[in-house]
Amino acid sequence: MTPPLTQADIDGEIADLHKDCDGQEANHPPRDFAPYRSSVLRHPKQPLIMVKEPEAVELTGPVFGVTDVTALDADLTKQHAGEPLGERITVQGRVLDRAGRPVRGQLVEVWQANASGRYPHQRDDHPAPLDPNFTGVGRCLTDDEGRYSFTTIKPGAYPWRNHVNAWRPAHIHFSVFGAAFTQRLVTQMYFPNDPLFAYDPVLQSVTDERARQRLVAAYEHDLSVPEWSLGYRWDIVLDGPAATWMEEGR
Ligand SMILES: [Fe+2]
Repeated sequence: MTPPLTQADIDGEIADLHKDCDGQEANHPPRDFAPYRSSVLRHPKQPLIMVKEPEAVELTGPVFGVTDVTALDADLTKQHAGEPLGERITVQGRVLDRAGRPVRGQLVEVWQANASGRYPHQRDDHPAPLDPNFTGVGRCLTDDEGRYSFTTIKPGAYPWRNHVNAWRPAHIHFSVFGAAFTQRLVTQMYFPNDPLFAYDPVLQSVTDERARQRLVAAYEHDLSVPEWSLGYRWDIVLDGPAATWMEEGR
């Protein structure tokens, strides 16, 4: 039987793959980044089929609009009877196109673990407490400046079974819906100076350091709300050289 993989094994694989990609700008990681074990098994084995124009039903079907999304959806600390535990944060930024123009009226969705690093999901059985006052999902529409804003709780790091002692850095999952379901983009936002960055094969699957940095929010003191929350700013650029990395195979 092969011994379980250690962090040192994974670190070595990441270092080798980064060396291979040195100097190459890449906004998208390879689909099968071996240190991120499950990516090898679940990436498409056949060339992708180009979808022609979206079906008419996709363009005319129901979409989320101003009447569907309420202010409560963007405040993850107010979705239950009591206050969730943890460090309250404000996360704000803009959705921009490659020319820096605002992308307006976009449905931005988030999901995240609670302050203890636990998802309220059946398959998350890591022994950290659930918070009855925190579900960890939210959504909002971007305004005329392309701005989104969420009030939430800083998520905790959590273990996963990629290798022995594997931990995900604290992160918030983001989705930008687009104009139809086929356009949906999914990515993750991280918090500055997290000591787990170097050990995480998910983040390290983005082989270009500058592209990795674009996934990290900045602490912004003016965004912090006095006596209430700490502020983080994170812009999402949909394409072009400064694009935010998005997950493949969505
Ligand atoms: Fe996660």
